[in-house]
Amino acid sequence: MAKILSKPEYEQWTASTRDQRMAWWRDARFGMFVHFGLYSVRGMHEWQMVYENFPIEEYEKIANRFNPKPGAPREWAALAKKAGMKYMVLTTRHHDGFSLWDSKVNPYNSVNYGPKRDIVREYVDACREFGLGIGFYSSCMDWHHPDGGRAAVDKESRARFTQYIEGLNRELLTNYGKIDILWYDVSYPMESWEGWDALEINQKMRELQPDLLINNRIKLNEDFGTPEEHITAETRDWEACMTFNGLSWGYVDSAQAAPYSYNEQTILRMLHKVVGGGGNLLLNIGPMPDGSVPPEAIKPLETVGKWLEENGEIVYGVKNKGSAHLNGVTSGTYNGNVIYGWNWIWPTTGEMGFGGWQTKLLEASLLKDGTPIEFEQKGHRILLKNLPKEAPDKNASVSVIKLVFEERPSCIFASYYPQMHAGREWTTEKI
Ligand code: GLC
Repeated sequence: MAKILSKPEYEQWTASTRDQRMAWWRDARFGMFVHFGLYSVRGMHEWQMVYENFPIEEYEKIANRFNPKPGAPREWAALAKKAGMKYMVLTTRHHDGFSLWDSKVNPYNSVNYGPKRDIVREYVDACREFGLGIGFYSSCMDWHHPDGGRAAVDKESRARFTQYIEGLNRELLTNYGKIDILWYDVSYPMESWEGWDALEINQKMRELQPDLLINNRIKLNEDFGTPEEHITAETRDWEACMTFNGLSWGYVDSAQAAPYSYNEQTILRMLHKVVGGGGNLLLNIGPMPDGSVPPEAIKPLETVGKWLEENGEIVYGVKNKGSAHLNGVTSGTYNGNVIYGWNWIWPTTGEMGFGGWQTKLLEASLLKDGTPIEFEQKGHRILLKNLPKEAPDKNASVSVIKLVFEERPSCIFASYYPQMHAGREWTTEKI
């Protein structure tokens, strides 16, 4: 066992290897989160065990009813691939403490109960089959373990509990080949990284998997931030995780959840935001009790995948952050001297303008097939002309216009009141 580094030494090491370790993830942009476990059986939110004050023995009974159909993880992975997602993260063990693999550390698992199968193994195989990056979600909080709560107030409990967490993740990172992401969640009840022995544990995990990416949820900053249920850019690497319906990560009745769920357009709006902000989107599905993909997620995800087949250039591998305002119904993202206009509402008039542009536009075209678009540029105004009457994108009616400028373009937002520009330079000074 190599020597344990101090926090500054460790942070220096992780920072110095980050560009190389994260290159694939930064290009990937879009991943699938899967929340699947005992809570999926009853379908009342993944926190049902505490929200409904279940006695442990009663909750445990669900384990015998947990019986995912063979091949379920393959369905998730097939859909992720179709949706244009590049990696997955599965809840190997959520807060209710039930492990989805053949754990020696935690006998409360899917090989001893319910399906008597190693679901993590099936998931890993499926990710590999479809060429997807493999992430393991691992809850730090555990409502089933006797030390789960006591750990915060009793030294011996704490030692046992952090060893337990380490032991679980050691199994996961030892027995399944190369793993890409360790996705911790809810580091409660200890309040510091010292309380979790996080510095030591994470170093040991990285020894097992040298290219591993670790998120920020065990009270160390680690490789990336994890805004939850909102897409807010951070100044570091970040990944927004989103439920599919704003209600629950775990399965809830599909028929009732459908009206709350995201459609292809809302997912593309999310992707636009993450690309503009230089982050990733980890979009969740909560599979049904038998492990099937919830029906309301299928069409939107498949449609987004078809859209990405034609327009993926604006998502994968984009290196520039920044959103450009094109007009009220078209949002832009940058890539060098190119701006991509994500058009949400296609003009029915055959023309549309983009105001405020100060750089010479060389070409305008439709991204999906390169069809040139006629334009004129006068003053700060770019006017696209003779546009088709209907949105050219046939998947989600979100058409992308590619604008190639002479150099990285600049724009002044205040191009309204054009008369104020007449004969003088624009000034931001107020009178
Ligand atoms: C939360 C919840 C949890 C969910 C997670 C996903 O912190 O506790 O149920 O798994 O977010 O990010």
